[in-house]
Amino acid sequence: MSIMDRCPIIMFNDFGDERGKLVVIEGGKSIPFDIKRVFYIYGSDPSVVRGQHANRESEFVLINVSGTSKVRITDGTEEFTVFLDRPMMGVYIPKMVWKDMYDFSSDSVLLVLASTHYDGSEYIRDFDAYLKEMAESDPA
Ligand code: TYD
Repeated sequence: MSIMDRCPIIMFNDFGDERGKLVVIEGGKSIPFDIKRVFYIYGSDPSVVRGQHANRESEFVLINVSGTSKVRITDGTEEFTVFLDRPMMGVYIPKMVWKDMYDFSSDSVLLVLASTHYDGSEYIRDFDAYLKEMAESDPA
């Protein structure tokens, strides 16, 4: 399966009426995991690159609830970039996928839904170490 198929864009229900918009995300329903953790990133300068890691255990959904950012996603073989520019749009990131977030607009609020509680030891922060783990886990 291609990296783009493994990391689908998810469009959430957007209930809009004359009072404004309301976006609903339900763990295990509109995204493929139960939500254990929520964090958000804001105030990042456009020159900053965040993320730069893969996770052995966590799955994520990234949503720019305000402003815009880009997410570069790779498995070490294929790569693609998602432009997050709508509050009703998310990108799903499964385990063992490398991601970099960058090009944050000044009003960017990047909401992240995660399948796990935080455990720093499940992060791989060195790209060469990530490639090595990927090669070791490849049954081919
Ligand atoms: P980091 O993983 O570097 O952020 P990002 O991947 O979004 O660029 O995390 C920054 C700091 O915040 C680091 O000291 C770890 C801490 N942190 C937590 O304590 N809990 C969390 O859920 C997250 C995501 C980070």
